[in-house]
Amino acid sequence: MSGRLLTLVLLIGLLGSAFTLAPQIGALHLPGNQQGYEPVQPIAFSHRLHAGEMQVACLYCHSGAESSRHAGIPSAGVCMNCHQFVNAPLGALRAEEELAKKEGRKPRRIISPELQKLYDAMALGADLKSDPRKTPTPIAWTKVHNVPDFVYFDHRPHVATGVACQSCHGPVETMDRVAQVQPLTMGWCVNCHRQANLVGVAGKKVNASIDCSRCHY
Ligand code: HEC
Ligand code: HEC
Ligand code: HEC
Ligand code: HEC
Ligand code: HEC
Repeated sequence: MSGRLLTLVLLIGLLGSAFTLAPQIGALHLPGNQQGYEPVQPIAFSHRLHAGEMQVACLYCHSGAESSRHAGIPSAGVCMNCHQFVNAPLGALRAEEELAKKEGRKPRRIISPELQKLYDAMALGADLKSDPRKTPTPIAWTKVHNVPDFVYFDHRPHVATGVACQSCHGPVETMDRVAQVQPLTMGWCVNCHRQANLVGVAGKKVNASIDCSRCHY
């Protein structure tokens, strides 16, 4: 009798904690199971504009994909190769020029609010030179694609054999904000390895392992 009572008390306790935990459980995303995940980023950087319209190569900003396990996110310095000179979209510059002409004054210098965030992160002053009173803060980009810690993933063998970035990341060059297109599940990895071994990649034979230890520590 007392045994059953104890079970009952434990059960009620368990149910109670399950209810209080429920909202957190709902919000929890298992890494590798976040298909469609599309977080808002600290700066509205657009791949459609940079990689699509302007056709800047993926590896210009993600050179790590060729040379290391992680593709990496470019530092603000890479952005400054262009944004030292480009402070606002062309459309906004033209509009200011027109307005200035109408009002018979010189066009004002305009800085896009999104690019201002880049300059703030680099602690630049109004002259775009380093301002000693400010402290640089790295831009806190939110990672979109994640595999769990017990999975070993490396960009190199994929990029070296010619697997396109888009096979795993979708048409990034059309995205204003990056979203996870593929499921990144084990079935997804293994199916592609099997298929690649059958049909090859870019006309070449490949040997993509389906050995557990290749992907698991
Ligand atoms: C075979 C699939 C695959 C291919 C091909 C691939 N990626 Fe990835 N990528 C992933 C996975 C899986 C992750 C998440 C890895 C993790 O959590 O460690 C990732 C993560 C990333 C990240 C986040 C930062 C990082 O390094 O983890 C970037 C940026 C990225 N990839 C860019 C690229 C680019 C650019 C290319 C092409 C040159 C590319 N990827 C090719 C699967 C792929
Ligand atoms: C190869 C040159 C180049 C590089 C590198 C580059 N950009 Fe740009 N970016 C541009 C140009 C040019 C525009 C303006 C396009 C237009 O006229 O609409 C732009 C526009 C933008 C805008 C939109 C501004 C607005 O208000 O509409 C943002 C934000 C931006 N870039 C952020 C970045 C960040 C962050 C990086 C680094 C990760 C970066 N850019 C790297 C050339 C570049
Ligand atoms: C001008 C620099 C630039 C270029 C060119 C560029 N990227 Fe990126 N990429 C970034 C930045 C900055 C981020 C982080 C912010 C974001 O997610 O949009 C990023 C994020 C990503 C991510 C998400 C990584 C994650 O967190 O999981 C992927 C995937 C990616 N890029 C793939 C590509 C591919 C594929 C191309 C070429 C078609 C490309 N990028 C071209 C700068 C660039
Ligand atoms: C779009 C197809 C594709 C997807 C998706 C894919 N891979 Fe691969 N993978 C390949 C190819 C092709 C190779 C290269 C085989 C070779 O070098 O001959 C490879 C090689 C590897 C290697 C190197 C070991 C070896 O077989 O020589 C590892 C580790 C690996 N993949 C892990 C993963 C993981 C983990 C995932 C999922 C998160 C994944 N792959 C998703 C196609 C893919
Ligand atoms: C090509 C890469 C790859 C190979 C080969 C592979 N796995 Fe996985 N495995 C993954 C990835 C990625 C995940 C995480 C995503 C997921 O849970 O689907 C995973 C998850 C798992 C999990 C956790 C499942 C869960 O639901 O949380 C187990 C257990 C596992 N793998 C066992 C194995 C065993 C056993 C083998 C060999 C028969 C194997 N894996 C081969 C990529 C691989």
